[in-house]
Amino acid sequence: MTPVNAAMWRFSLQRRGLHSSLSLTKNVKSKSPAEQRWLQRQLKDPYVKASHAQNFRCRSAFKLLEIDDKFRLLQPGRVVVDCGAAPGAWSQVAVRRVNSAGTDPALPRGTVVGIDLMNIPPLDGAHFLSRHDVTDPATHAELLQLLPGGRADVILSDMAPNASGVREMDHEKLIAACLTLADLAERVLQPGGALLCKYWDGFLARSLQEKLSSAFAHVQTVKPNASRKESAERYFLARKYRR
Ligand SMILES: C[S@@+](CC[C@H](N)C(=O)[O-])C[C@H]1O[C@@H](n2cnc3c(N)ncnc32)[C@H](O)[C@@H]1O
Repeated sequence: MTPVNAAMWRFSLQRRGLHSSLSLTKNVKSKSPAEQRWLQRQLKDPYVKASHAQNFRCRSAFKLLEIDDKFRLLQPGRVVVDCGAAPGAWSQVAVRRVNSAGTDPALPRGTVVGIDLMNIPPLDGAHFLSRHDVTDPATHAELLQLLPGGRADVILSDMAPNASGVREMDHEKLIAACLTLADLAERVLQPGGALLCKYWDGFLARSLQEKLSSAFAHVQTVKPNASRKESAERYFLARKYRR
C-alpha cells in the first residue's frame, strides 16, 4: 500500500466515526505533503460529503449513479458482476438498483456478485469473492457457479491496480487487466449484455476500444462529473454484446 493509499484508508475509517473531521484537520500537520494534499481535497469534496450522508462506502458510488441514470444498465432483476468491488460502493448502487436484497417485493430480484483482491466487507444483497483476482480464469470458474444459469447481464469494472505514480506504466497495467474482461465477457455475458470498465487514458486505450468493438455493437467513452477533471480516468461503456 502506498503512503497516500494508507492515508486514504485511515481517512475513510476516521470519517466513519472514529475521529471528528476537526481532529482530523488538526492532525493534518503531522502528515506528509502528499497525504496533506489528499486529505485537504477530501475535506472539500462535495461527493465525499454526499457519500457519507447517503451511507455509501466511498465517493465512487456517484460515478456509477450518474452513468446509470443516463444509460439504465442496472434494472430490477438484472444480474451484475462488479469487478474490483472493494470497499463496495458500486455494489451498494447495484444492489439498490437491481433489487438484489429484495427490498421491493413487487419487483424482480436481481443478483450482484463482487470480486476484489482485497477483502470486501459484507453487504446485504451481494455475494463477494474477496481476495480473488478478476484476471484469473480460476476466478471466472468460481463466478460461474454464483450466477443464475451461469450468465450475467452487466459486467462493471472500476478495477485499478495500485498506482505507482509512473503514468504510462499504470496505464499499461490497467489496460492489460481490462483486456482480460473480454475473456470474462465471453464466459458469462448474455447476448445483448453490457460492460462498463474504467481505464486510465493513454496510448493503449485505442487497442482496448478495438477489442471491445469486436464483441459489442456499441462502444463509447464516458467521463462522469464525479470523476475528477484532472484525472486520466475514463470509462468505456460497451453495449449490445454479440456472442
Ligand atoms: C477504485 S477501487 C474500486 C472502488 C469500488 N468500485 C467501490 O465503489 O467501492 C479499485 C479496486 O480494484 C481492485 N483490483 C485491482 N486489480 C484487481 C484484480 N486484478 N482483481 C480484483 N480486484 C482488483 C483493487 O484491489 C481495488 O479495491
